Amino acid sequence: MTKKKATPFTPHDAGHVADPDDALEAARRECPVSQVSDVLFVVAADTDVRAMFKDSAVLSNRGNFTIGREDRDHAFSGITNLDPPVHTELRSRLLRSMAPKKLRSLAPHVARVIAKALDGLPTSGEVELHKDYIAHIPSAVTYSMIGLPEKHWSEVEVLADALVEAVPAPETSMPEYDRLMEIMGQVVRGRRDHPEQRRDDVLDNLCFAAPGEREMADLEVVMHLRQLFAAATDTTRALIANCIYRLLEHGDWARIAADRSLLKNAIEESLRFDSPAQFMTRSVVQDTVIGECPVSAGHKAYLSIQSANHDEASWGSTARQFDITRQVAVQHVAFGRGIHSCLGAPLARMEAYMAIDILMDHYPRMAAGRRATWEKCDGLLLRRPKEVWARLTGETPAATATDAEQASE
Ligand code: HEM
Repeated sequence: MTKKKATPFTPHDAGHVADPDDALEAARRECPVSQVSDVLFVVAADTDVRAMFKDSAVLSNRGNFTIGREDRDHAFSGITNLDPPVHTELRSRLLRSMAPKKLRSLAPHVARVIAKALDGLPTSGEVELHKDYIAHIPSAVTYSMIGLPEKHWSEVEVLADALVEAVPAPETSMPEYDRLMEIMGQVVRGRRDHPEQRRDDVLDNLCFAAPGEREMADLEVVMHLRQLFAAATDTTRALIANCIYRLLEHGDWARIAADRSLLKNAIEESLRFDSPAQFMTRSVVQDTVIGECPVSAGHKAYLSIQSANHDEASWGSTARQFDITRQVAVQHVAFGRGIHSCLGAPLARMEAYMAIDILMDHYPRMAAGRRATWEKCDGLLLRRPKEVWARLTGETPAATATDAEQASE
């Protein structure tokens, strides 16, 4: 294949970003590696995206999430923008407090957070579930995993949400950014000044070096925590919102409420069908060939996770259909692959399972609300509906933390 001028899908087109699937299908069919600007190539085929996730020698994570030449203007890069060996060191350090077993041990806390969110729902009537139920769950879970003192949770949530809503404005120019940095700086200094209050959490792990590890500056710890907020919160909200939306849209809610053995795979199919993180970008550091297309160093590649997860060559002729019984759904690339693959995947899966399972216990006959419509949230990176309207039909919303804990087992 030779390099073509055609740009069936480009992240520079707001229409494509809002509703990407037809354009991505055209890209896979006509031009799976297409140059869409002087710097950017869009990569649409599943096999190419998977191969690129694994090729960290030729592809750098610098400038990840941006689609122009710019890198992020930060004093310290977060983990998803780092390359080995600095990345390797940070990842294994984070793994001490984010190993799958550790993350799954947060189940009782997740259960309490869900029970509290459920308390706010009425017994019946139309509700917008993203605002009234979903949004608080991943933020409270993330803050607890990190070790952020609870007195800061509500302010930090408001600040972090304001930064996300402003995308693609540069967050560093916003007053919310300054305030968030100030709070996080105080939290880091507070923990370091009081080693007697040490706890087994991410904050501790980053504030205090283990033997052989490097001490980090306060600002560096703050930047890593900041990236964890972003990585863990909105993506998981999107997963829960997407999954509930599609189950209601396809009439699968009552079926799964009656047979919970279907729920785990339904979550994987949701991750495949509506990939919460739509793409990652990589900087090409050596001349290479992507697919059959030569790409020279200095360019960037937009790895379309959404397209890979809808590729007919891998998923067959039903690739663009939502099917909760799809056998191989779990093979999606929604959590990436290779050395940067998602560290929080076990936690995201557990939160989604518990949040939906408990909602089904209490509202087994929940249906799509009259105002339900798919309109993608703003921003390039995330895919979720702006709103998830549902109709609750009379069951009692009296969840207890014990119900929720049992759901995770
Ligand atoms: C449905 C929810 C989530 C999705 C779809 C998601 C997606 C991803 C993807 C695609 C990557 C790969 C980045 C790359 O290749 O450049 C990634 C990395 C990462 N994710 Fe997640 N994520 C989710 C939830 C979480 C949660 C809950 C946490 C934290 C508890 C988390 C922490 C991370 C971290 C630390 C990395 C960086 C790993 C590295 O660079 O080595 N994520 N995530």
